[in-house]
Amino acid sequence: PSQGSVTSEVQDAHYSPPWADMSIIGVAGSSGSGKTSLAVEIVESLNLPWVIILSIDSFYKSLTPEENALAHQNNYDLDSPSSIDFDLLVEKLHDLKQGKRTDIPIYSFQQHQRLDKTLSIYSPHVIILEGILALNDPRVLDLLDMKIYVEADADLCLSRRIVRDVRERGRTIEGVIKQWFKYVKPVFQRYVEPQREVADLIVPRGMQNKMAIQMIVNQLRQTLKEKSFKHNAALERLGQQVDDY
Ligand code: CTP
Repeated sequence: PSQGSVTSEVQDAHYSPPWADMSIIGVAGSSGSGKTSLAVEIVESLNLPWVIILSIDSFYKSLTPEENALAHQNNYDLDSPSSIDFDLLVEKLHDLKQGKRTDIPIYSFQQHQRLDKTLSIYSPHVIILEGILALNDPRVLDLLDMKIYVEADADLCLSRRIVRDVRERGRTIEGVIKQWFKYVKPVFQRYVEPQREVADLIVPRGMQNKMAIQMIVNQLRQTLKEKSFKHNAALERLGQQVDDY
């Protein structure tokens, strides 16, 4: 047979490399609800290579000098979907799905800006995508294998946020509280909380909820096993066709 027909047989076998079947888990929830800790706990319990946590915070849009000055006064909305560059996030997720190396922006909460540096990522098998709006954009929802919403009391979220933002993000207590009531809380009610509706799983108590973590990890292992089975079957079919040829 000609080279052309071998090519078409190979296409008929529907071979897809393992990274094309990358699994993405979305973790949404209020600021301070413990999304990052839950994501870390899932990664540790999963105990597999090629698992990464991707924070949607990396995709905050850069601000103009005027917007930046307002952000430093805790007087700028950094919670609504318009503050995130979802186009870039979707582009990066598609790149990773196609097995391409991709550069992820690095964001500074102190400066409210993207840094010049980027982080290079190459073909993970599982991505845990965490952020207040991880279940917001329909294009992202289409790519998710599992949708998780972390639930926590608002007073717990606010106290965690005060401690973290003062310690790690260069903020004052007064500034954090002002921003919370002016932007974070109303935007939570408008955009973050409604994401419960599209979640597969609502996790109360975040990383302390060992039962939920175990269920998530078991489900993920099952999904990975099925994907690997499909991949191996496709490889075997290809091998058979090459032998026959
Ligand atoms: N934010 C900010 N300044 C910026 C950019 C974002 O204060 N320049 C705030 C937004 O107001 C938003 C929050 O950062 O509410 C998003 O991060 P958050 O969800 O608090 O952090 P995570 O570590 O992703 O989540 P968790 O606290 O649940 O672990």
